[in-house]
Amino acid sequence: MLVDRINTVVRRVPVWSVWLILLVPAVWTFYLGLTGGLGAEPIKALERELGEVALQLVILGLCITPLRRFLGLNLIRFRRAIGLLAFTYVALHLLVWLVLDVQIPAQIWADIVKRPYVTVGFTAFLMMIPLALTSNDWSLRRLGPRWRRLHKLTYGVAVLGAVHFIWLSKGFQIEPLIYLAAILALLALRLRVRWRTQRA
Ligand code: HEM
Repeated sequence: MLVDRINTVVRRVPVWSVWLILLVPAVWTFYLGLTGGLGAEPIKALERELGEVALQLVILGLCITPLRRFLGLNLIRFRRAIGLLAFTYVALHLLVWLVLDVQIPAQIWADIVKRPYVTVGFTAFLMMIPLALTSNDWSLRRLGPRWRRLHKLTYGVAVLGAVHFIWLSKGFQIEPLIYLAAILALLALRLRVRWRTQRA
């Protein structure tokens, strides 16, 4: 079967290559920023690109379980790398905002408190910290069943990331709504599976 063949190929792909490939957008966008390839507002463009890739990676991470459950495609060994990459992109997104965009320390806290979209983004970032810190074998062993419960925070992060995007978009924009719809669909899929297993 095709999916078995894909799984065989995937098993040979080293995890570090996923890091390498998925860091390309960050390196490329920073390069464009330094060489004048990001248009009239390079800092905003950099900030947006990093935020968008972060959200895409969060969603990709959420797709891993349904891909295995419904299609038999096993990408589990890349899940941790994808989650950590999402955190890396969010951290870079935050860093660009702090160091290149806002710059003034007093303004940073004011923005977090006063601008709802920043509050939401910052909350999502805080929720990602325990996820990133426990994305290792040692934490998995130590936390046991609590690890899975803790990692359900990923859904909250995804919803907040999409809400952050909707909130900061000016006027009606379809793209952030598509992200939110995809996240809610993935969440609904998970709830359906749980509901079915409880009934069985
Ligand atoms: C750490 C706290 C965060 C801060 C301070 C922050 C701040 C910002 C800012 C200032 C923008 C650009 C707004 C503009 O266009 O003027 C932005 C855009 C964005 N952020 Fe964040 N953000 C944070 C966390 C996150 C997180 C956790 C995610 C997703 C997981 C995220 C995803 C996005 C996306 C998707 C965009 C829009 C990209 C686009 O326009 O294409 N952000 N954020």
